[in-house]
Amino acid sequence: MHIKSANFIISNTDVAKCPNEVLPEYAFIGRSNVGKSSLINMLTERKSLAKTSGRPGKTQLINHFKINENWFLVDLPGYGYARVSKKSKKTFQKYITDYFAKREQLVCAFVLVDIRHEPQKIDMEFMEWLGENSVPFCIIFTKADKLKPQAIERNVTTYLKELEKGVWEEAPAYFITSSSKNLGRDELLAYIEGINIEFFKALQN
Ligand code: GTP
Ligand code: MG
Repeated sequence: MHIKSANFIISNTDVAKCPNEVLPEYAFIGRSNVGKSSLINMLTERKSLAKTSGRPGKTQLINHFKINENWFLVDLPGYGYARVSKKSKKTFQKYITDYFAKREQLVCAFVLVDIRHEPQKIDMEFMEWLGENSVPFCIIFTKADKLKPQAIERNVTTYLKELEKGVWEEAPAYFITSSSKNLGRDELLAYIEGINIEFFKALQN
């Protein structure tokens, strides 16, 4: 898919104030600093469409970006950011949970995990929560440039094995990406394009 346009539309903390157009929407979620905003920039080939930082906690709001005038990418704050109270650390900030529970246009949540790390409890729990709330999701491994091919394979295998212990009927789709090396871009965009086609077909019927 060719990205002809990518525009920032609105930031907010209230799912009710998100754009009300009925367009397919994809949200990026995961631990702080995992590379959500960087991936949005990589996919759209815009250097600073989404704000990135080496320090965790950069993205604080629900940010909508309209792509090719007919679908949305959503950049969200990360979870697991240490500088919040224990309680809000455990339960997500309400507006993020609200977003996932109520956003009807959301066709797929991309759960980002750093490919260098062992499966983390917070990610597993979040994926379980998505499953329980019937939110379709995929896994995106980030920062693949930081590992050699063998280590990538080993870590992905470990991760998928851990997921098998979960409650899902079928394993979620996954993508291996690097925003600094443009890895995984074509595959992800092709995946999105496929879902978009289905979305608009279903809308016509
Ligand atoms: P929050 O908004 O704080 O939740 O973080 P985020 O998940 O949006 O992460 P962000 O995109 O801001 O990136 C965090 C840091 O990781 C930045 O220093 C990025 O340059 C770096 N980074 C992101 N993606 C990659 C990648 O694919 N490879 C490498 N080497 N670094 C990356
Ligand atoms: Mg961010």
